[in-house]
Formats: sequence, C-alpha cells, structure tokens
Amino acid sequence: MDTLLEKLKNAQNSQELEAIRIEALGKKGIITQKFSELKSLEGETKKELAKTLNDFKIKFESIHQEKKTQFQMLELKLALEQERIDVSLFTSNSHKIIGHPISYTKDRIIAYFTYLGYELCTGPLVEDDFHNFSALNLPEYHPARDMQDTFYFKDSMLLRTHTSPVQIRTMQSQTPPIKMICPGATFRRDYDLTHTPMFHQVEGLVVDKGDKASFANLKYTLEDFLKYMFGDVKVRFRSSFFPFTEPSAEVDISCVFCEGKGCRVCSQTGWLEVLGCGVVDEYVFEAVGYKNSSGYAFGMGIERLAMLTCGVSDLRSFFETDLRVLEQF
Ligand code: DAH
Repeated sequence: MDTLLEKLKNAQNSQELEAIRIEALGKKGIITQKFSELKSLEGETKKELAKTLNDFKIKFESIHQEKKTQFQMLELKLALEQERIDVSLFTSNSHKIIGHPISYTKDRIIAYFTYLGYELCTGPLVEDDFHNFSALNLPEYHPARDMQDTFYFKDSMLLRTHTSPVQIRTMQSQTPPIKMICPGATFRRDYDLTHTPMFHQVEGLVVDKGDKASFANLKYTLEDFLKYMFGDVKVRFRSSFFPFTEPSAEVDISCVFCEGKGCRVCSQTGWLEVLGCGVVDEYVFEAVGYKNSSGYAFGMGIERLAMLTCGVSDLRSFFETDLRVLEQF
C-alpha cells in the first residue's frame, strides 16, 4: 500500500494519476480486491483490516483529489497559453450561415454600411426610362442599354435593370451630404448558371458639396468592406466603363477558392470580379440639378457575393426552393 501511495505522489500528469487510481481503487484494483477479501474474515482481524483499508482509502483519495486539481489547473494554464483565440481575426468563409443565403448576405452588407452611417433607401421595382437609363447617362440608343436586356411595359415603363435609379431618386428628394445604400430586386432577360431573370443588387452612393467625396474615399471604403465580407483577401481596382461614373472601375478580390493560385472558378486568373464603382459623372449631377458637388457610387450583385461566400456554383439553386439544397446552409 505504501508503494501505491508513493506512486500516487510521484504521478506527473492526469493520465498517470488516473492509472494509479485504477490500479488501487478500480473495479479490479488492489485495494478493491482487499475490500472484497473482508467478507471471508471475522472478528478482530476483519475489524483491523477494514480500518487499515478505510484509512488508506481516505488518505489515497485526499492526495488524489489534491493532485488532480493541481494537474487540471496546470493543464488549463497550458491550454490557455497555447490555444489563444485572436477574436480580431477574420472568420473563414465556411462559417454557418443563418437563413437563406441571399437574405443572409444582404443583411451582412446592410450591417456594414448602416454601421458607417449610410441611410437605407428603397425605390420602385417598376421604373420609368428617365430614372433607369436617361438620368444615368444612358440616353435612347446608347449601346450600353443592350448590356441590360430589359423587360418593358407600355409607355416606356420597365422592370428596373439595376438599383442605380435609386441614386437618382435619392438625389432628387434630398440635398448633399448624402450617404445611402439601396438593396433590392432587379430584373434582366437572362437565365443560365450565373444569371436569373430576377436577382438582387446593392447600390451605394455618397455625395458631398465641393470636392470632398473622392475616389480615395471610395477605394478605402470598398477595400475595407470586401475584407469584412471575405476575410483576408487582396483587392484590386481595374479601370472600366459605366456611363454614370467617370472614372469607373471594376473591383476584384483574390480568388477565395484557390487563394489567388488559379482555379476553375476564377478561370485560372486568381481573381474574382465582385463589384462596379466610380466617381459620379457630371452628367448625372446635371440630370438631378446638382451643382458644385462630388460623389462616388458602387453597385454589387448580392447573388454573386452569396455564391462566393457559400461556395455555390449554380445560381439557380438559390431560387428553386429545394429544401435539401437550402438546408445545407
Ligand atoms: N448599375 C451597374 C450594374 O447593374 C452596377 C454599378 C456599377 C453601379 C458602377 C454603380 C457604379 O453605382 O458606380 O451593372
């Protein structure tokens, strides 16, 4: 029994401690067996052995408990030192999402911009030609109108092809400074792996008096936003063309699937295009009667961002209401 106590005192960790406990007091342990031998004894001998065993058990258990607490504290301290969690790190893209991927992505975008003080605006789905096209510097017969295959009603009314008309409506009803985003449904005559006739965009617009709103502000905001959405990605601005912004840019992030090495999703380029943006064209300010103002705007497809965050390759699966697909998120 003394050897057992000696071994117990010399145990170096919880595992060794547990092994000795089993050796002594486990089902087939040395002391347990001695306890069962009591049955066959009688009188003083029985009494004496019972006392010795009980005294031993009490002593053993008290040392065991003390050492156990000691090891637990040590192991906790070690784990805390080794497994530090940096809560300021970006999360991975494979996080569990809540609700439908589209609403989830939309809510995350809204959360970012409203936190920065952007006002949440809305506009009609059935638009007129002026707000959807002309005021955005897409006059009749402008070739860029073809890029947005439109669903027309009678009398030049149409289903809005983008959320940009809400820029025009907001500027018409407010005066600078303006800081707004508009999430909402948009419509185009398209249907394939990456297009559906109804999809969602988020438009953003910032306007200030004088030359306060600059491309540098736009660049900073979008870079920060994309890191918030996608984690530690690289962001690049590529010069592009939109009739309503000058200069214009398309924004890419390093591919979230191959981390920029090149894969099927990014067509081996290492980059994924995620949004369009630019400095508000003077013509747009003229159309809403603004003078001496500066601004920037951006537009992004919610489905595209949702596909990238949720790793979905067929956009149509978002809308086919197949619960087996949706439940995966
Ligand atoms: N309206 C554009 C589209 O539907 C997206 C867009 C690009 C909006 C650039 C903007 C912008 O405000 O500046 O493709």
